[in-house]
Amino acid sequence: MYTQEMLESIKKLEASRAARMATEPRRMTADEKSALLKAYHPDYRPEGFAEIKVGPNKGEKVPCELGQLLHSNSRILGEKIDLNKVDYDVDVLVIGGGGAGCAAAIEAHEAGADVMIVTKLRIGDANTMMAEGGIQAADKPNDSPVQHYLDAFGGGHFAARPELLRRLVMEAPDAIRWLNDLGVMFDKDAEGNMVTTHGGGTSRKRMHACKDYSGAEIMRTVRDEVLNRQVPVVEFTAAVELIKDEKGQVAGAVLQNLETEDYLVARAKTVIIATGGAGRLHYQGFPTSNHYGATADGLVLGYRAGAPLLYQDTIQYHPTGAIFPAQIKGALVTEKVRSIGAMLVNSEGEAFMHPLETRDVSAASIIRECSTNGKGVNTPSGKGVWLDTPMIEKLHGEGTIEKRIPAMLRMYMNYGIDMRKVPIVIYPTLHYQNGGLEIGGEGFTKTIPNLLVAGEAVGGIHGRNRLMGNSLLDIIVFGRNAGKAAAAKAREVELGTMNLDHLQAYAEELKAADATEEGVSPMLLPNYARHER
Ligand code: FUM
Repeated sequence: MYTQEMLESIKKLEASRAARMATEPRRMTADEKSALLKAYHPDYRPEGFAEIKVGPNKGEKVPCELGQLLHSNSRILGEKIDLNKVDYDVDVLVIGGGGAGCAAAIEAHEAGADVMIVTKLRIGDANTMMAEGGIQAADKPNDSPVQHYLDAFGGGHFAARPELLRRLVMEAPDAIRWLNDLGVMFDKDAEGNMVTTHGGGTSRKRMHACKDYSGAEIMRTVRDEVLNRQVPVVEFTAAVELIKDEKGQVAGAVLQNLETEDYLVARAKTVIIATGGAGRLHYQGFPTSNHYGATADGLVLGYRAGAPLLYQDTIQYHPTGAIFPAQIKGALVTEKVRSIGAMLVNSEGEAFMHPLETRDVSAASIIRECSTNGKGVNTPSGKGVWLDTPMIEKLHGEGTIEKRIPAMLRMYMNYGIDMRKVPIVIYPTLHYQNGGLEIGGEGFTKTIPNLLVAGEAVGGIHGRNRLMGNSLLDIIVFGRNAGKAAAAKAREVELGTMNLDHLQAYAEELKAADATEEGVSPMLLPNYARHER
């Protein structure tokens, strides 16, 4: 499977292995990290960003691809939508059927609200399902939420909103208990204690996992809970715009059945945007680890209705995406592979960095090796660096890979690569949007009454870089809180007359700024065909 050149490089990697295993690479200083990021992280490439011309974040930077959507007109501008014909009438409308949406729906239902989920694909088609390595919580005697806070705050460049990060870490142990009680099959030792490991940037082993399919296991569990509670789930139906009333409150959403293309009206006293990430916008041409529907829809809906974004200019490139073979280019190679011992090694057999630096620093290091340092490994589908996976079994014994990261083993075995015996090649992949819609501690947007956001569509929880395992955590913590808060709020909301006036106003603002892009938004589904020549 590997080319002759790759096999030659493997010889160098094998020759250096014993020495590498004997000495841990040193950690970078803060100054070194900062210089590295500026030189190599994609967030610092000016050509990847545009200026926002309208709306609450006017004048700020945004990735060009998201900017294009923010500068496009609504899909339903000029459509005749009869808002008097209400198809669904609920207390709480949850837009998105991933982990955050399900956690919100469960808690809203538990609080007695009439709640409905609408999702453009199927329930569980979400980045939650794709998450592998684990979920952080400081619930061991040698750890504390304070320690967790410090790790995440530093890892996020001290930019996280303190009230959000505080909630994340304080409510983490309860999130694990809640998931465990719902039936998530966490890895446990013979005595029933949770097995925990490190992630990049953690000072304690607080990563709880379900082998290397933690997200799929969590998604399975919360989805089953939603279905068991008989919460209505409307699938293959996209929310295409928010509806407001004359008081400026959110009052529901216009939906579109993606099969019939019919528009439907959902009236709701509170709305939770839980639409997830943006990987399918392929910022700067990167491949992605995200699911097919990750097209930033919630950001567009919220922004057009007047909700500000926060840190929309900061993106997470997961350091270890598969680069070879081509069939799995961009697929996630979980950080857990490094947590349990694999080192990053360049084409010359050198361990060029500590394997558990934070993600932005690790991604920048790998990009440096493959560019100016000229020490990338050439593969038929692009340059990358080695992840020395055979080290894992040398450190922890035979059988460790199959036991701890079976999904990785299977993914590579499908292509004849036995990662127990040979290293694999990786390169950064577009993984996560650090930014999103701005919320307060209770999950409400700051400008649109009764509109909440949860999950990856939120900006500010992690600052300008997220640590591994804090995303599965935030979907549960902020999803649950949003569900509770939305249900409580719905009890006091009096809705007025529904309207879509904000769509016309936004279109006029775009026109006045001479910023209207071709096309319409939200994107809903990626259109890969348009890239064909
Ligand atoms: O590497 C991983 O397993 C990814 C985890 C995360 O993004 O939190």
